Order: sequence, then structure tokens, then C-alpha cells
Amino acid sequence: MSLLSAAKKVREHAHAPYSHFKVGAAIRSPSGRIHVGCNVENAAYPQGTCAEAGAIAAMVAAGDREIAEILVIADAPAPVSPCGGCRQKIAEFAPPGVRVVMCNLNGDEMVQTIEELLPHAFAAAHMEDDA
Ligand code: THU
Repeated sequence: MSLLSAAKKVREHAHAPYSHFKVGAAIRSPSGRIHVGCNVENAAYPQGTCAEAGAIAAMVAAGDREIAEILVIADAPAPVSPCGGCRQKIAEFAPPGVRVVMCNLNGDEMVQTIEELLPHAFAAAHMEDDA
């Protein structure tokens, strides 16, 4: 299955009764495995989680640790762009150069690398002891 069809399919499972904005995300790991996630909202609004966070959790739970490519899709006028928090979450597992494919249901697509979306990301290297 392609990343696009996997993300489209999981999007249908989104729990978005408050925003009515369903999002699907699919990650391909270097192994070729695909991990999917959708947004899961909550009556206590800040407890909701984004599709990208769900896909990352599924990837880690499955034993994979690296994002080779990620695709996000929603029913939006323009390709859906990961929120700031999700950019940081993606950067944790995506080496520089990884493609973030942003889509909508009309077939519009925008592709950027993770470092284009989140330049100068905070990373583990910032906490290394240089003494
Ligand atoms: N959302 C995602 O799941 N991913 C994105 O990239 C953008 C926003 C969700 C969060 C919330 O459930 C709904 O979309 C509206 O913000």
C-alpha cells in the first residue's frame, strides 16, 4: 500500500467530533514498513492528539525508530501542514533530508524536507556535555 492510500484510509478513523477536521498520517520506515495514525480529539480539548503523533507512537510501538518519509492528509483547501509541535516530534525521528509530504483530498501536494519545516530544531545534541 502507498503512503497516500494508507493515510487516506486511516484518516477515516479520526475522532474529530469538535473540529470536524479529520487528519491521517502515514510513515514509511527504512525497513519499508508503514505506520499510520489519525487525530484523536478529547472533550478536554488540549488532551487531543494529532495524526502525526499517532503515527509516530505506532511506529515506536512496532519497534521502528526512523522516519524515511511521512505523508499527512486532510480535507483542506490547501495541503495540510504539520503543527509546530508535530514538526518537533517528526524531527526527533527524521534525519535531515526526509520528505514531509503534505496533501489534501483534491490531490494538491506540497513537499518539504523536515529541516525546511523546522530549521535549527532543538535536538539531543544540544544537551551534550562539551566540557
Ligand atoms: N491536526 C492534526 O492531526 N495534524 C495536523 O497536521 C494539523 C492539525 C488536528 C488536530 C485537531 O484534532 C484538528 O486537526 C484541528 O486542529
